[in-house]
Amino acid sequence: MTKLPTADQDLSPEAAAERVAPLFERADLAGIELCNRIAMAPMTRRLAPDDRVPSQAVVDYSARRAAGGVGLIITEGTHVDDKHAPDSENVPGIFNDEQAAGWKRVIEAVHSAENNFGSPSRIAVQLWHTGRHAMNPIGPSAIPVQKRDGGYKDTPREMTEADMDEVVAIFENAARLSIEAGFDSMEIHGAHGYLLDSFLSPASNQRTDDYGGSFENRMRFPLRVVRAVRKVLDEAVGREYPLMIRFSQWRMEDYSAYAYPDPDHLERWVLALKDAGVDILHVSTRDATDPGFPHLFDTDTDDGRRTLAGWTRKLSGGMPTVAVGRVSVSASMDEGAAVQTTDPAPAAELISRGEADMIAVGRSLIANPRWCDTVREGRWNELVPYTREMLESLDD
Ligand SMILES: Cc1cc2nc3c(=O)[nH]c(=O)nc-3n(C[C@H](O)[C@H](O)[C@H](O)COP(=O)(O)O)c2cc1C
Repeated sequence: MTKLPTADQDLSPEAAAERVAPLFERADLAGIELCNRIAMAPMTRRLAPDDRVPSQAVVDYSARRAAGGVGLIITEGTHVDDKHAPDSENVPGIFNDEQAAGWKRVIEAVHSAENNFGSPSRIAVQLWHTGRHAMNPIGPSAIPVQKRDGGYKDTPREMTEADMDEVVAIFENAARLSIEAGFDSMEIHGAHGYLLDSFLSPASNQRTDDYGGSFENRMRFPLRVVRAVRKVLDEAVGREYPLMIRFSQWRMEDYSAYAYPDPDHLERWVLALKDAGVDILHVSTRDATDPGFPHLFDTDTDDGRRTLAGWTRKLSGGMPTVAVGRVSVSASMDEGAAVQTTDPAPAAELISRGEADMIAVGRSLIANPRWCDTVREGRWNELVPYTREMLESLDD
């Protein structure tokens, strides 16, 4: 839903700064020392060269966000192989040494950029397999993705056990290369209807083997991938290396989906992730302040008001949690080409209320590399509004 700016545009910068102060406290997120509580949300730019090696433009683009004081940069979704993972030719990869070397240059630029927050930005890679949405699609079942125009994408091939073993191996390879490149953390893309998430939903998973049917069975394959990546990390750098996963209720093909229909399903999922060795939960919502289960609880109650990040943090026993969605922009993703700038104070309240440890900012950080400086100084109404044309280059 489109929402308007939420605060008095005439609030003094000092008063506005005070409202957002919780966003700029230092943080220890599962052992990653962060200069503040702002993450850059992973955002595909589709501007990579044919070899999927991140270009100098990505180095400079990331360094500008680091100089602007983003606590944790999460890279754009990065493909874990060239066979089934990609949904386009222009997304970077992390499946060979050249790509790892390219990412090393990005990481070095981020770590060496000076900012106004006392310590450098940290950077995590997002590992992405698009599965049913791929150019050469595979999925739990041969059910095609319906497009917004009503048509269908190519029908995915139903994965065999051998396909699953292969996907596990390519995630392991990507994890090894990410460690070699020097990333501070790693985020498994388990959201938005892509490969791992597609196993969770009966709408895309109608298998009759151990990977379909009950919720426990549907969780089995994503958890296999998580455990395999965790094992690589444990062996290469130790149990203290922080592993993150992103998950969502919504899917690209259905914004109103509920992958976790109630708190009980969410609890089983987050506890299984914890057991599999995940340290940080990144809850992808289209509006970070929306109630998590509005169809179950009266919004006048605490349960009714609690956001999905808040539920996640509570049900996981307080695991480090990242919230995202519509921070300082007037409409949720894909609701409009142009958005107005809005007050980020509601996101700061999620931190004060203990519903999230960090807030990821998406489109507003494409439009404003110095988002953290501008917002900390209480000048949010000077933020440049995001437009889709900004996606055409990495120059800003
Ligand atoms: C251009 C664009 C590319 C995106 N690419 C990814 C991606 O690669 N991986 C992912 O998990 N989410 C992706 N997202 C979703 C964002 O990470 C974020 O969750 C969403 O934009 C909501 O945050 P915002 O309202 O602050 O923009 C993308 C969003 C946009 C606008």
